[in-house]
Amino acid sequence: MSGAKRGAAVAYVPDRFLYGGDYNPEQWGEDVWREDIRLMRRARVNTVTLGVFSWAKLEPREGEYDTAWLDRVIEMLTEAGIGFFLATPTASPPPWFTARYPDALNVRPDGTRLAHGSRDTYAVSAPAYRAACRRIARMLAERYGDHPGLRGWHVHNEYGTLDYGPHAAAAFRRWLRARYVELDRLNDAWMTAFWSQRYDAWDEILPPVSTQYVHNPAQLIDFRRYSSDEMLAAYDEQVREIRQAGSRAPATTNFMLPTWNHLEQWSWAAHQDVVSVDHYLDSNGPDGEAHVAYGSDLTRGWAGGPWLLMEQNPTGVITRDRTYTKPTSRMIRNSLGYIARGSQSSLFFQWRASVGGSEQWHGALVPHAGEDSRAFAATCELGEHLEKIAEVLAPSADGRLSAAEVAIAWHADSWWALETPHLPNDALTYRDEVRAVHRSLWRAGVATDVIRPGADATGYRAIIVPCLYVIATETVEWLRSFAEQGGTVIVSYLTGIADETMRIVTGGYPGALRGMLGISAEEVEVLAPGERLELSGGLVGSEWSERIALRAASSLHDYAAGVLEGLPAITRNRQGSGEAIYVSTKLEQESRDEFFAAQMKRIGVAPVLAGAADLGVEAIVRRGRERDYMFLLHHGADAATVTGQGIDLLTSTDLANGLALAPGGSAVIRMSDADRIAIMPATPGEK
Ligand code: GAL
Repeated sequence: MSGAKRGAAVAYVPDRFLYGGDYNPEQWGEDVWREDIRLMRRARVNTVTLGVFSWAKLEPREGEYDTAWLDRVIEMLTEAGIGFFLATPTASPPPWFTARYPDALNVRPDGTRLAHGSRDTYAVSAPAYRAACRRIARMLAERYGDHPGLRGWHVHNEYGTLDYGPHAAAAFRRWLRARYVELDRLNDAWMTAFWSQRYDAWDEILPPVSTQYVHNPAQLIDFRRYSSDEMLAAYDEQVREIRQAGSRAPATTNFMLPTWNHLEQWSWAAHQDVVSVDHYLDSNGPDGEAHVAYGSDLTRGWAGGPWLLMEQNPTGVITRDRTYTKPTSRMIRNSLGYIARGSQSSLFFQWRASVGGSEQWHGALVPHAGEDSRAFAATCELGEHLEKIAEVLAPSADGRLSAAEVAIAWHADSWWALETPHLPNDALTYRDEVRAVHRSLWRAGVATDVIRPGADATGYRAIIVPCLYVIATETVEWLRSFAEQGGTVIVSYLTGIADETMRIVTGGYPGALRGMLGISAEEVEVLAPGERLELSGGLVGSEWSERIALRAASSLHDYAAGVLEGLPAITRNRQGSGEAIYVSTKLEQESRDEFFAAQMKRIGVAPVLAGAADLGVEAIVRRGRERDYMFLLHHGADAATVTGQGIDLLTSTDLANGLALAPGGSAVIRMSDADRIAIMPATPGEK
């Protein structure tokens, strides 16, 4: 790994795109391992993740270790030139552990203590669990920490198991004492004057366990913050053991996208040598591609540079009640899509399909059918592609991988805030709103970054702020000064409503941002499910609207019907040499697409490649050390032709001769002159 400095972090640049995935040799015998190595070589796999769920095999009885099998697997991999991430297996404590330490099992809010039998059955703050995690991390680090094939540490797996039991209660109180110091300050922050909740002693405070009616929202959000910090402390402890054992290999833990979020990623990212993520499509339809872009842009934001895709499903898209087959071309386009947006890897769950256990129907690089299969041919095809694009790995000297001029401000606090009950409209989620904004920009072909509120915003023309319900004073200042200096800030409904204690800022909505937006809303008008609200200019809103009075702003679109007819719905206020726009309703996706496309055009943010989106082609530029690279992913139905200057690394085609891009196809262009790349429908007869 070589390093390019970016701020405090060192960009993660392995010697090749890491290709492979979770490997569970404990499910087979050595004859299959030999077969695996042969197939890995055939497919050009260079990295596997070992040990994610191997605790019971590695430590069959407390303190008794059996590593002979792992020694052998690592020896075979190393002989074949295949590197490995070594996981600490702490996401799945073995039955002996839970039998011996029943207090270390997690407890649900209703008091049910879970039992082993699946995975993730542990209370993260239980001392016995933490000690057992430290011991096994130490053992693995002492044994394998300086192995030449070790690419890195995969600590735990997808932190995110919440616990509401007695250990959590004690740890939560410790966290609260550190945050508030004095009980009176907590009582004030939580506004415990409401419903007679005043605490007289720290020990009276509980996690938000089942109670008669809705919880205190400040308690709820603090519990989420505590849980994230507690899991981070558990991660840090394992890394400390690894470092004390002398291992210097990079450490990471795989974040999980897209559906749940139990971590505050900005603080976690600072503790990792490289940020990694697991990403599973949330739709089998065309929106899956927008989802890849969303997950990748988020992760690149958290990482502040290159990152690792630790898992995706090679052959399936799993929905609530069925798994759809993922075609080869989609698997390849998705894999290149992650790389285009900063991933240094294409790693999958999993190498070989299991024949037993709970995930026996999960997709794999080697399916049940074995090597004579469409799926394994796809595995080989991707391996070839990744070798051809190796030069893309090294990031630009300033560490920025994207040339985005638009950023979305993201913070987990607001995800959690919108999950607290009893908001005027509990159907609204943070994820949906952020995703919908990102989708509109993606559909317009515009590159997007995701940034932490307060981050360096140099180089952006616009910051979009979807549903940032919880807002710190510094964030308000940050947005104001961005606008003052010529930027465009686009703020959605449910932003700037509350301070960090979930206390509403009074005097009109959106409290903290009223001044900057030049408006004041005295009341919210929530819509019924499915109700549509027309705005002037043909836009349509849903779910939410507000009775807005203009102070300094002007109206861009008014409500065109209903009780708010004639009143402003979308407003614009000048701020210094920039502007602040407010969108007071949840625009339906098509309206949102239209609105953002128009705004981008107005402020001069161009799509990455003019005309590409209309052809169903996604164009992404990844900035590199010597050159920049344009990735073209054809999700559409009609053949296209690409011309200009540059070389497609996948086919070695010189664009000067015209590059045919078939539906489903991909290209990775080493650019000579970005402005001269053009895309158009293929001439009739060309396929
Ligand atoms: C991930 C997990 C893997 C596997 C996979 C299935 O979230 O890390 O172990 O369960 O999901 O999609």
